[in-house]
Amino acid sequence: MEEKPLILMTHDLPPDWVENSLNDFRVIFGDNDQRGIDNKLEEYIPEASGIFCLLDDPIPATIINQAPLLKVISNMAVGTDNIDVKTCTTRGIPVGHTPGVLTDGTADLTLALLLSVSRQLAEANQDARAGKWSSWEPTGWLGRDLKDATVGIIGLGKIGSAVAERLKPFGCKLIFTNRSPLPGQEINLNARQVVLDELLSTSDFICLHVPLTQETNGMIGKEAFAKMKTSAILINAARGPVVDTDALYEALTSSRILAAGLDVTDPEPLPPDHPLYQLPNCFITPHIGSATVNTRKVMAGIAIRNLKAGIQGEPLPYCVNPEVYKPS
Ligand code: DGY
Repeated sequence: MEEKPLILMTHDLPPDWVENSLNDFRVIFGDNDQRGIDNKLEEYIPEASGIFCLLDDPIPATIINQAPLLKVISNMAVGTDNIDVKTCTTRGIPVGHTPGVLTDGTADLTLALLLSVSRQLAEANQDARAGKWSSWEPTGWLGRDLKDATVGIIGLGKIGSAVAERLKPFGCKLIFTNRSPLPGQEINLNARQVVLDELLSTSDFICLHVPLTQETNGMIGKEAFAKMKTSAILINAARGPVVDTDALYEALTSSRILAAGLDVTDPEPLPPDHPLYQLPNCFITPHIGSATVNTRKVMAGIAIRNLKAGIQGEPLPYCVNPEVYKPS
């Protein structure tokens, strides 16, 4: 009997998310606490037909090139900056991802961060628990209004647009940057497309929704902070390295900007002793943009569909490098 194709999974998934979908494969699981191709998976790379990974599993060229049988890499995430996609494309290996399904979850989380930071919810909650709520303080825990504030969205893709939609009823002024002109979105969202410098210098809130690429890596650094209002609040629910962490720390501790809400950091995870955690004006969550029961279950389903299609030699339903299907 022919042996079943071998799949390497860097992390297991709840059984009801997977059901019988992996029965046609031999599956080796990595250690849930290790990221990337760990010791448990390493020896199987030469035999692997598929890799199922998460957004914090680095899959570099050195791994891909050790896998002569590899037919697909399926990332349970929309972003694929953890994978050397270029090498996959050169090798003709399709890379799957999970776009669309996490748009709403991530947009909701962005709003949650924005409101939490602007109204100091974490500090107010901590103070209440610590017995510091002694009276109704006229000047206690004062926040910033969203109404009439200028909100600048950097990157008006699916998630950026969903954030803008959610912000419409708050009565703020919306501006955005995007690689290409989006006149339709200006009308739909009652938003104005501007250049980055204008967005940085006029926004009260700045929300990042760009993918991590060579161009966006470190795009919010010392120079960008220097252009922001001292009352600006920065929200990052995209990718940590889009913001230069040292420059952010400096901006927050020198009152260059007012505050930040981060669902993503660089490095990630942010070590428990990182100085950013000590700052009252920095609110950090552990990359939970897509963390709702439904979203994660649907993401897993799509990632498994991509994996199965790749193993069966069919086009992936959601492929980041469809050029692998074009005749050379
Ligand atoms: C993704 O899928 O890239 C998101 O960051 C998950 O939250």
